[in-house]
Amino acid sequence: MNALVAGSEGNGHRYSNANGKGRINMKLCIADPPYLGKAEMFYGEKKRANMNEGGNIAKTFKADIHPDAHIWDRPETHENMVDELVANYDGWAIAMLPVNLFHYIQWVPSSTRIAVWHDPNVMPTGSHPRRRWEAVLVSVPIGRKRINDVQTHVGDVLTVSHGSGSFAGAKPPASTRWVLDMLGYDSELDTVDDLFEGSGAVAKEIAQGVLL
Ligand SMILES: C[S@@+](CC[C@H](N)C(=O)[O-])C[C@H]1O[C@@H](n2cnc3c(N)ncnc32)[C@H](O)[C@@H]1O
Repeated sequence: MNALVAGSEGNGHRYSNANGKGRINMKLCIADPPYLGKAEMFYGEKKRANMNEGGNIAKTFKADIHPDAHIWDRPETHENMVDELVANYDGWAIAMLPVNLFHYIQWVPSSTRIAVWHDPNVMPTGSHPRRRWEAVLVSVPIGRKRINDVQTHVGDVLTVSHGSGSFAGAKPPASTRWVLDMLGYDSELDTVDDLFEGSGAVAKEIAQGVLL
């Protein structure tokens, strides 16, 4: 029997050779929290107030508003989330602003991979130089870290546009697929939790599994 399985019965791992690779199931998580430092601005009540001034816009963007968005402007909220992910999942991915790496790097294990979602059409702000990417920290599960362990080979940089939806922060399907591939997701074996559902775009892509 696979040593990993023998040593992890309490974690609910089970062994499968259904795909001929002899692998165990993984508990995975994708976390797409409000950006640290921008949470209230993007998802808080102030945004609702601003949108109400604009009339019907509030209705269109209603799902973006969360009464407790402000807690994600506190570093300790993000640090606690990292602790939960490390304690409870075999593999996880967290999306963030590049500048948030200054905080996150202190909290994640040194084995964590730093990946880049390059969005050529990212919304312009007043900043110079213009930011065109989002950082994705990825903890690849043990047993999925080698090229022979996974079903699809993928790089740690993705270039894809965010698309044209009205939901602030919604992820394009290709970016979720890329994250799943980096995690070595096996749709026949693994479970994936989507911690910040938002528009539902991430959960929708997970539900489709990975087409090979
Ligand atoms: C970056 S978005 C997630 C987008 C999602 N991945 C998608 O593809 O649509 C972050 C989400 O967290 C929600 N949020 C804000 N504050 C929250 C809180 N205190 N608890 C839970 N969710 C919160 C926001 O309303 C928003 O939907």
